[in-house]
Amino acid sequence: MRHARIHGVGGYRPERVVTNEEIIQFIDSSDEWIRQRSGIATRRWAREDETVIDMAEAASRQAMERAGVAPDQIGVVIMATVSHPFQTPAAAPQLAHRMGIPSPAAFDISAACAGYCHAVSLANDMVRVGTADYVLVVGVEKLSDFTDKHDRGSAFIFGDGAGAAVIGVSDFPGIGPTLWGSLGDQADVITQRESWTDLRPTMEDAGRTEAVPWPAFVMQGQTVFRWAVFSMAPVALETVKAAGITPDDLDAFVPHQANMRITDAMIKALKLPEHVPVARDIAETGNTSAASIPLAMSRMLDEGEAPSGGLALQIGFGAGLVYAAQVVVMP
Ligand SMILES: CC(C)(COP(=O)(O)OP(=O)(O)OC[C@H]1O[C@@H](n2cnc3c(N)ncnc32)[C@H](O)[C@@H]1OP(=O)(O)O)[C@@H](O)C(=O)NCCC(=O)NCCS
Repeated sequence: MRHARIHGVGGYRPERVVTNEEIIQFIDSSDEWIRQRSGIATRRWAREDETVIDMAEAASRQAMERAGVAPDQIGVVIMATVSHPFQTPAAAPQLAHRMGIPSPAAFDISAACAGYCHAVSLANDMVRVGTADYVLVVGVEKLSDFTDKHDRGSAFIFGDGAGAAVIGVSDFPGIGPTLWGSLGDQADVITQRESWTDLRPTMEDAGRTEAVPWPAFVMQGQTVFRWAVFSMAPVALETVKAAGITPDDLDAFVPHQANMRITDAMIKALKLPEHVPVARDIAETGNTSAASIPLAMSRMLDEGEAPSGGLALQIGFGAGLVYAAQVVVMP
């Protein structure tokens, strides 16, 4: 079987910086509480007319340029997103068209904050067995469209952005075994509030006067917190073992940017050596779900915080509940 690795990563953050002051206009909260409980100082929100496809395009252009891979070398495009506002068609074929990738297999996957790590695993398998030489993987969200700005439990958490990676053939193994799984009995822990079919009567009833419900994403914060800390740290440790290394060998830890306190608790549970740099992109970018890991890795590489060629442990976890983790060689 062939080897695969990440050839390049790229990121895109929308221009508009949204402060905690702006968020607390709509909820009973404070800048201090949000910083202390989530580590978030600012997040980015996309323009009203800016779509997940626009953001994905910007991140993909950067990733492909850095990878030195041309559009006609890409055989598959996978977009991980839960905020493309169309049930169908998927966003990936439109992204591929814009990127000038000639007729690739292109599809979206729905694995929430673990979507990027799921897509990396699929891409790795495809490249290794020869289904494709290069796969474009994108994690992208416009969560501002699905945030209830009056919901105290989630209004301050979410942000918008895109991260992309080009995964392709390699002389050495650059993506370790993926550990992944799901807990479908916990579906209500993070969820869209109403289904599209629940909304149908409202949409059909033009005379309705009360507020129109909107399928915002809501969560049981404490349950997510406990699950992430107590269950995801052991998964992270198993992933490192499965890669045949120890935490001491890591050059970066890039967890999903869910909440700074979750990251801190995971570091403790993992007994992560102090020399390993940890992604803390959430402070300025918020929780961008599927986009958070590639955005954070891209930033660490750009700022020289993590070395190109070094080993990074990445772990995504979120609505489903679902999770996926792997050790990768950074491009
Ligand atoms: C959402 C989250 C920050 C809430 O923090 P928490 O410490 O669990 O907060 P709690 O719900 O226990 O509430 C603690 C106190 O803060 C208050 N509080 C809750 N939300 C608040 C807000 N937005 N602003 C100010 N105070 C708030 C509560 O009323 C409570 O007050 P009390 O102690 O006087 O009763 C936290 O649970 C979290 O981040 N969970 C994980 C969420 C996440 O990562 N989601 C994405 C997963 S991919």
